[in-house]
Amino acid sequence: MPPAPPVDWPALRAAATAVASRAYAPYSGLRVGAAGQTSDGRIIVGCNVENASFGLTLCAECGLVSALHAAGPPENGAALQAVAVVAGDGEPLLPCGRCRQLLLEAGGGNLLVDTADGPVELKVLLPAAFTDTDLAERREPQPREAP
Ligand code: THU
Repeated sequence: MPPAPPVDWPALRAAATAVASRAYAPYSGLRVGAAGQTSDGRIIVGCNVENASFGLTLCAECGLVSALHAAGPPENGAALQAVAVVAGDGEPLLPCGRCRQLLLEAGGGNLLVDTADGPVELKVLLPAAFTDTDLAERREPQPREAP
Protein backbone atom coordinates (compact mmCIF):
# COMPACT_ATOMS: atom_id res chain seq x y z
CA MET A 1 0.00 0.00 0.00
CA PRO A 2 1.47 3.47 -0.84
CA PRO A 3 2.34 5.80 2.08
CA ALA A 4 -0.60 7.70 3.57
CA PRO A 5 -1.01 11.20 2.12
CA PRO A 6 -0.57 14.24 4.40
CA VAL A 7 -3.68 15.11 6.38
CA ASP A 8 -5.70 17.84 4.68
CA TRP A 9 -7.00 19.44 7.88
CA PRO A 10 -8.83 22.34 6.18
CA ALA A 11 -10.68 19.87 3.93
CA LEU A 12 -11.45 17.63 6.89
CA ARG A 13 -12.83 20.48 8.98
CA ALA A 14 -14.87 21.77 6.03
CA ALA A 15 -16.34 18.31 5.45
CA ALA A 16 -17.18 17.96 9.15
CA THR A 17 -18.85 21.39 9.18
CA ALA A 18 -20.85 20.59 6.04
CA VAL A 19 -22.15 17.28 7.38
CA ALA A 20 -22.99 18.88 10.75
CA SER A 21 -25.58 20.94 8.90
CA ARG A 22 -27.31 17.67 7.97
CA ALA A 23 -27.43 16.36 11.57
CA TYR A 24 -30.78 15.45 13.10
CA ALA A 25 -30.59 17.03 16.54
CA PRO A 26 -34.02 18.45 17.43
CA TYR A 27 -33.76 17.44 21.10
CA SER A 28 -30.33 18.70 22.15
CA GLY A 29 -29.98 21.44 19.55
CA LEU A 30 -26.32 20.43 19.17
CA ARG A 31 -25.51 19.49 15.60
CA VAL A 32 -22.28 17.53 15.27
CA GLY A 33 -20.29 16.58 12.20
CA ALA A 34 -17.35 14.19 11.99
CA ALA A 35 -15.01 13.71 9.06
CA GLY A 36 -12.17 11.21 8.82
CA GLN A 37 -9.36 10.89 6.31
CA THR A 38 -8.39 7.34 5.37
CA SER A 39 -4.88 6.16 4.64
CA ASP A 40 -5.74 6.18 0.94
CA GLY A 41 -6.83 9.82 1.09
CA ARG A 42 -10.60 9.46 1.10
CA ILE A 43 -12.79 11.58 3.39
CA ILE A 44 -15.62 9.79 5.20
CA VAL A 45 -18.27 11.63 7.20
CA GLY A 46 -21.00 11.15 9.79
CA CYS A 47 -23.48 13.31 11.70
CA ASN A 48 -25.41 12.82 14.92
CA VAL A 49 -28.92 11.42 14.72
CA GLU A 50 -31.16 11.84 17.77
CA ASN A 51 -34.35 10.05 18.74
CA ALA A 52 -37.37 10.77 20.91
CA SER A 53 -36.09 7.88 23.04
CA PHE A 54 -33.00 9.85 24.04
CA GLY A 55 -30.80 6.85 24.81
CA LEU A 56 -30.94 5.75 21.19
CA THR A 57 -29.06 8.83 19.98
CA LEU A 58 -26.25 8.11 17.53
CA CYS A 59 -23.20 10.33 17.76
CA ALA A 60 -21.59 11.74 14.63
CA GLU A 61 -18.53 9.53 15.15
CA CYS A 62 -20.77 6.42 15.18
CA GLY A 63 -22.01 7.40 11.74
CA LEU A 64 -18.45 7.98 10.56
CA VAL A 65 -17.22 4.59 11.80
CA SER A 66 -20.22 2.86 10.27
CA ALA A 67 -19.61 4.58 6.92
CA LEU A 68 -15.93 3.64 7.13
CA HIS A 69 -16.74 -0.04 7.38
CA ALA A 70 -19.47 0.22 4.76
CA ALA A 71 -16.94 1.78 2.37
CA GLY A 72 -14.60 -1.20 2.48
CA PRO A 73 -12.32 -3.32 4.65
CA PRO A 74 -9.05 -1.92 6.09
CA GLU A 75 -6.86 -3.90 3.67
CA ASN A 76 -8.39 -1.81 0.90
CA GLY A 77 -7.23 1.41 2.54
CA ALA A 78 -10.14 2.12 4.85
CA ALA A 79 -7.92 2.64 7.91
CA LEU A 80 -8.55 5.99 9.59
CA GLN A 81 -5.57 8.29 10.02
CA ALA A 82 -7.17 11.61 11.06
CA VAL A 83 -10.54 12.84 12.34
CA ALA A 84 -12.12 16.25 12.74
CA VAL A 85 -15.26 16.59 14.88
CA VAL A 86 -17.06 19.91 14.98
CA ALA A 87 -20.27 21.42 16.31
CA GLY A 88 -22.65 23.29 14.04
CA ASP A 89 -20.54 26.43 14.44
CA GLY A 90 -17.60 24.68 12.77
CA GLU A 91 -15.43 24.72 15.91
CA PRO A 92 -13.78 21.51 17.18
CA LEU A 93 -15.73 19.35 19.65
CA LEU A 94 -13.92 16.68 21.65
CA PRO A 95 -15.38 13.20 21.09
CA CYS A 96 -17.33 11.73 24.01
CA GLY A 97 -15.85 8.75 25.85
CA ARG A 98 -17.86 6.16 23.96
CA CYS A 99 -16.78 7.63 20.65
CA ARG A 100 -13.13 7.71 21.69
CA GLN A 101 -13.43 3.97 22.25
CA LEU A 102 -15.10 3.49 18.86
CA LEU A 103 -12.47 5.58 17.11
CA LEU A 104 -9.70 3.64 18.84
CA GLU A 105 -10.82 0.40 17.26
CA ALA A 106 -11.25 2.08 13.86
CA GLY A 107 -7.98 4.02 13.77
CA GLY A 108 -5.74 2.92 16.64
CA GLY A 109 -3.94 5.00 19.25
CA ASN A 110 -1.98 6.96 16.63
CA LEU A 111 -5.16 8.28 15.03
CA LEU A 112 -4.94 12.07 14.91
CA VAL A 113 -7.91 13.93 16.42
CA ASP A 114 -8.39 17.63 15.84
CA THR A 115 -8.81 19.79 18.95
CA ALA A 116 -9.03 23.52 19.58
CA ASP A 117 -5.27 23.35 20.32
CA GLY A 118 -4.45 21.36 17.19
CA PRO A 119 -4.30 17.64 16.35
CA VAL A 120 -3.49 15.16 19.14
CA GLU A 121 -3.10 11.39 19.07
CA LEU A 122 -6.12 9.45 20.26
CA LYS A 123 -4.01 7.60 22.83
CA VAL A 124 -3.57 10.95 24.59
CA LEU A 125 -7.34 11.43 24.76
CA LEU A 126 -7.97 7.81 25.79
CA PRO A 127 -5.07 6.54 27.89
CA ALA A 128 -5.07 3.05 29.40
CA ALA A 129 -7.83 1.99 27.05
CA PHE A 130 -9.58 -1.37 27.08
CA THR A 131 -8.84 -3.11 23.77
CA ASP A 132 -9.30 -6.41 21.98
CA THR A 133 -6.02 -7.53 23.58
CA ASP A 134 -7.56 -7.22 27.04
CA LEU A 135 -10.56 -9.15 25.84
CA ALA A 136 -8.44 -11.95 24.37
CA GLU A 137 -6.29 -12.22 27.51
CA ARG A 138 -9.06 -12.06 30.10
CA ARG A 139 -12.04 -13.84 28.63
CA GLU A 140 -12.90 -17.25 30.03
CA PRO A 141 -12.05 -20.14 27.73
CA GLN A 142 -15.59 -21.46 27.78
CA PRO A 143 -18.72 -19.33 27.98
CA ARG A 144 -20.40 -19.85 31.34
CA GLU A 145 -23.65 -21.76 31.31
CA ALA A 146 -26.74 -19.89 32.31
CA PRO A 147 -27.77 -20.64 35.93
N1 THU B 1 -22.56 14.10 20.22
C1 THU B 1 -21.86 13.61 19.16
O1 THU B 1 -22.40 13.47 18.06
N2 THU B 1 -20.56 13.27 19.36
C2 THU B 1 -19.88 13.43 20.53
O2 THU B 1 -18.73 13.01 20.64
C3 THU B 1 -20.52 14.13 21.64
C4 THU B 1 -22.00 14.27 21.54
C5 THU B 1 -23.97 14.43 20.03
C6 THU B 1 -24.91 13.44 20.64
C7 THU B 1 -26.16 14.27 20.85
O3 THU B 1 -26.94 14.24 19.67
C8 THU B 1 -25.63 15.68 21.05
O4 THU B 1 -24.28 15.67 20.62
C9 THU B 1 -25.71 16.17 22.48
O5 THU B 1 -25.06 15.30 23.34
